[in-house]
Amino acid sequence: MPLLIKNIKGLIGIEEHPQHKRCGRDMKILDQITDAYIFIEGDKISGFGSMDDIPDGQVQNNSHDVEVIDASGKFVFPSFCDSHTHLVYAGSREMEFSDRISGLSYEEIARRGGGILNSARKLHETTENDLYEQSMIRINEIILQGTGAVEIKSGYGLNTEDEIKMLRVIRRIKKNSLLEVKSTFLGAHAIPEPYRNIRDQYIGLIINEMIPVIASEELSDYIDVFCDKGFFTVEETEQILMAGLKYGLTPKLHANEIANSGGVQVGVKYNALSVDHLEHTGADEINALLNSDTMPTLLPGSALFLGLPDPPARKLIEAGLPVALASDFNPGSSPSGNMKLVMSLGCIKLKMTPEEAINAVTINSAYAMGISETHGSFAMGKTANMFITSEMPSYSFFPYAYGSNLIDKVILKGKIVN
Ligand code: NIG
Ligand code: FE
Repeated sequence: MPLLIKNIKGLIGIEEHPQHKRCGRDMKILDQITDAYIFIEGDKISGFGSMDDIPDGQVQNNSHDVEVIDASGKFVFPSFCDSHTHLVYAGSREMEFSDRISGLSYEEIARRGGGILNSARKLHETTENDLYEQSMIRINEIILQGTGAVEIKSGYGLNTEDEIKMLRVIRRIKKNSLLEVKSTFLGAHAIPEPYRNIRDQYIGLIINEMIPVIASEELSDYIDVFCDKGFFTVEETEQILMAGLKYGLTPKLHANEIANSGGVQVGVKYNALSVDHLEHTGADEINALLNSDTMPTLLPGSALFLGLPDPPARKLIEAGLPVALASDFNPGSSPSGNMKLVMSLGCIKLKMTPEEAINAVTINSAYAMGISETHGSFAMGKTANMFITSEMPSYSFFPYAYGSNLIDKVILKGKIVN
């Protein structure tokens, strides 16, 4: 049945002329209609505007053929697009959380066989079914937190069989949940223990075995490498990205989290859809990004959790670049997929305005996962993914009240979820 949401205090993120991303000064533009309606048919947006202009023919408020929600005092936002997560994982790593509180660094924990390798051991011991069940708990959690699209990476398998296990779980999530899901192959997340002194053999395994199998089963949309100090070098990253490109896998990179690693430049060189993290970003990285279609993506949740320097959102925006924000939901550096909190951290820690932060978690993060034609804003024909807030005084109240849920009702692909 078609759905009408009426008397909306503010319909946020509307686009008369849809754009694929917002850059620089345009990130401050957040169009809204006050006292608005939105009309949904099937899984698509088929009309919106001011209540004064609501077409009689399209909508009879008392008709039995239309489901009506009255959103008086409430705002309607496009669902969050979370363009960087590792939410398929086994178990959890709160022991490392305690170790870091006691003074160990993330890198020290990784060197001792903790970190990503710890998650890889846990994942190896978990059946595909159990991994799916554990991951679905997180999927259902983020849906209620306002996320409508999510990118999920492999990278806790680190051998062909376990990487495929993760990617099959992602495929099952794609099929069974109302979320829009994109999957990314991240075999180059860490060097597994047995390959520590023969790392070129692990790179060979990724290139000659993992990528061809994954491509033949169509298990992945994108390819990622953790290109950073202590993980994968620029040269190794190039080899892996070239192998992926042969199979049509577009890069999305982990770059410049730990050092000015050259990750941003190599991402741009291979036309990456996004380069993510960027805690260590200077003029060279900004210049490289200015001549590219690559979306700089910041993950303030993991910077907060690990006590890393804040990535330079202001510098990027002032240089005329777009910025996306994502959660990095993972057991080691960001055990939360709460995009509302990520948006607030964009304001509080990265000094983004509410308008910039909202664009960063909707249209720009949609671009960073290759779906901004259909997601990330309200435009005719786009997918009907949205949430209705609690009653609020203004849209800026939403990032400001950073500890309050404020998400009253979720609609995904035109279906009311809760
Ligand atoms: O994005 N930086 C690399 N990978 C993840 C962390 C993964 C983990 O610690 O399990 C990240 O922060
Ligand atoms: Fe990550």
